[in-house]
Amino acid sequence: MANMSEFELTSFAGQNVIVTGAASGIGKAAAELIASRGAKIFALDLNQAGLAATKAGIEKAGIEKDGGQIVTKVLDISSQDAINAVIAEILNEAGQIHALANSAGIAGPTSTNTEEINWNDFHKTLTINLFGSIWLTQALLPSMRTNKYGRIVHLASIAGKEGNPGMSPYNTSKAGLIGYVKGVAKEVATSGITINAIAPAVIRTPINETVTPEIQKYMVSRIPVGRLGEPNEVAEVIAFAASKACSFTTGFTFDVSGGRATY
Ligand SMILES: NC(=O)c1ccc[n+]([C@@H]2O[C@H](COP(=O)([O-])OP(=O)(O)OC[C@H]3O[C@@H](n4cnc5c(N)ncnc54)[C@H](O)[C@@H]3O)[C@@H](O)[C@H]2O)c1
Repeated sequence: MANMSEFELTSFAGQNVIVTGAASGIGKAAAELIASRGAKIFALDLNQAGLAATKAGIEKAGIEKDGGQIVTKVLDISSQDAINAVIAEILNEAGQIHALANSAGIAGPTSTNTEEINWNDFHKTLTINLFGSIWLTQALLPSMRTNKYGRIVHLASIAGKEGNPGMSPYNTSKAGLIGYVKGVAKEVATSGITINAIAPAVIRTPINETVTPEIQKYMVSRIPVGRLGEPNEVAEVIAFAASKACSFTTGFTFDVSGGRATY
């Protein structure tokens, strides 16, 4: 008789899933949820102490009893060499990487007109948010093609669709990511691989600590639901897009904006 889990398309039993940005906010919530659905999580982040807290939380919740496990590794996604090394290391350890939830990212300069932004700050935001996502995708695709299976999920933002004033590097990085996902999806469409983006509006996480109260007020005022989103509300959409269930949706940008964007 077939194992029931074969029919549970949102189960991650037996899967190895990389979550970047897993030390905080949306990535942390995604790691917890996907672990609770049975995955072995490879949690990657710059922040070692945050990774340790995520691991302790998952272990304390007893998720390991249900098959979920968590391994942490420090990674700076602004280094292509570091990305290639960590992906090779995980493939060596785990054999297969079934899915990536890429939530590492920075806000970059805020409340700053574009002509006042120095090139280093612009470049840094693009390197982490856009090039880091591209390098991760490039590092993962060869083994996913060989395995004829893969799920790639990148955190974009409503800012990539609509643009937030005073945040031109961030807007540019997220719009670039949305475009990148659309084209790559078509390249891998017959390889069992789906690649999608997620576009949240403002979510209650530490990334918004650098955003002034006025800008936060502006962002919430644009959300018909009338409040900030919570990390677990984004994690649910990430978990779907990273699961076997997401087999006929690719190149898409999932909206998690409380009704701000209806496209
Ligand atoms: N919170 C929001 O309002 C919101 C809205 C839309 C999109 N997003 C996107 O969602 C993603 C997660 O954001 P969050 O709100 O959870 O932020 P967060 O600050 O809580 O978490 C981001 C994580 O990324 C890590 N990180 C930063 N630079 C890194 C690097 N170079 N290498 C590895 N790790 C790095 C940080 O250490 C942190 O743990 C980001 O891509 C963000 O742009 C967030």
